[in-house]
Amino acid sequence: MLRRHRHALPAAAALLLLAVATPLTAAAADDSGGSAGAASQLPPQCQLDDGSYPPHTNLTFLGPARAIQAGGIDWSYHRFGNASAGQPPLVMIHGLGGTQYDWPMRVLQGLAAGREVVIFDNPRAGLSNDSSTAPLSIEGMAESTMQLLRALELEQPDVLGFSMGGMVALALAAEYSVELGAVVAVGGSAGGPDAPQPEGGMDAVLRAIVEAGPESINLVFPGGTNDTEGYCNLMVNVASLQLAVTPQTDSTDSGYGLRAGIIPSPAALSVSTDVKNQQREATDAFYTGPSLVPQLRNSSSQILLLAGGQDRVIPPTTQSQLAAQLLAANLVQVPDAGHLVAFQHPDGFAQQVASFLDAAQAVDPQQLAPFYPAAAQVDAPPH
Ligand SMILES: *[C@@H]1O[C@H](CO)[C@@H](O)[C@H](O)[C@H]1NC(C)=O
Ligand SMILES: *[C@@H]1O[C@H](CO)[C@@H](O)[C@H](O)[C@H]1NC(C)=O
Ligand SMILES: *[C@@H]1O[C@H](CO)[C@@H](O)[C@H](O)[C@H]1NC(C)=O
Ligand SMILES: *[C@@H]1O[C@H](CO)[C@@H](O)[C@H](O)[C@H]1NC(C)=O
Ligand SMILES: *[C@@H]1O[C@H](CO)[C@@H](O)[C@H](O)[C@H]1NC(C)=O
Repeated sequence: MLRRHRHALPAAAALLLLAVATPLTAAAADDSGGSAGAASQLPPQCQLDDGSYPPHTNLTFLGPARAIQAGGIDWSYHRFGNASAGQPPLVMIHGLGGTQYDWPMRVLQGLAAGREVVIFDNPRAGLSNDSSTAPLSIEGMAESTMQLLRALELEQPDVLGFSMGGMVALALAAEYSVELGAVVAVGGSAGGPDAPQPEGGMDAVLRAIVEAGPESINLVFPGGTNDTEGYCNLMVNVASLQLAVTPQTDSTDSGYGLRAGIIPSPAALSVSTDVKNQQREATDAFYTGPSLVPQLRNSSSQILLLAGGQDRVIPPTTQSQLAAQLLAANLVQVPDAGHLVAFQHPDGFAQQVASFLDAAQAVDPQQLAPFYPAAAQVDAPPH
């Protein structure tokens, strides 16, 4: 039975945050209305039926930002959630241009109800400082991430990555599956010259993401700003972060994230253009280098490939092709979703991921049979 669930995913949000954060910050500075703050600055299409706006998300659930050294990197991370639920911790790897704060907060809250969650800034992003200046690579980021997971003494953690983070997650599954549990790649890819390219070519799309111009919203939601649910969830995230890091004299709430050490500084929310371009080049190289498929066929990790059926950054055929090539892969495509499936369907996304991880946990890790018997039944595109 083919289980192509109609729900979907997170990771290209990071780039968008920069584009939308600026106008919000400007609005905040003009707004003398105080702590109604973030929510009142949402765009008009985010107004609810009763005329109110969705509330900001209180980021206190993330707990304080923490730091640890591993593999030559000073990592900034958060560890939160339900440690007594009896599930392995879930480690989440964000995408190109983003930081750990770009995950949809509703998704983090949903996942954290049933497990511990670790989020962190990728090397050189946000506040994760890297002593090396060597070029970034997907495989290198996977190796660095594995050193972080060992330093945190996480036992057989599950891993979820979005977009470029999904590529890193698959590189972890390819190389380190004996130390890991299940792996979820959202809008990810196993790379290689045979992986499908988006319209216009991968490098051009990544450059548009790095630039984060107004049109980049159309790359990540099929209907752009007309996809009200996804767009407004993204804007609520942005507004919630702004409220947390922007102290205003007339508001007791604003700046609470800085005061509580949840977000150490506004710099935690940004990534330099230089680092974004390094990530772009790492992604380009991942597509011209060897595919991870041969190694992934050997992986003992249960793998879930999640994708928006209308993804314009990583074409959805990427995941259907990969699912057909891998024994231990499960495929979920969400027909109405783009690259930011997690913002379009945050609750369904969290449920889908949690139910996959819970079920994968119950499966004998030595047994390579897919949890969803989907791979064999998905039409592989010719290539
Ligand atoms: C990275 O460097 C910045 C700037 O010096 C510093 O504020 C931050 O705490 C560092 N990050 C970590 C995890 O130590
Ligand atoms: C943590 O998970 C356990 C087991 O599923 C559940 O009983 C408990 O209510 C959860 N705690 C929280 C705070 O959600
Ligand atoms: C959004 O809706 C407007 C008005 O219907 C339309 O002109 C525009 O093309 C739509 N944008 C996208 C990206 O579909
Ligand atoms: C966030 O929640 C905490 C309790 O969990 C509360 O003390 C704090 O006032 C809340 N902050 C905002 C800005 O809503
Ligand atoms: C697959 O695993 C076997 C046994 O561990 C190993 O000999 C082989 O090199 C691996 N192949 C790949 C492509 O990683």
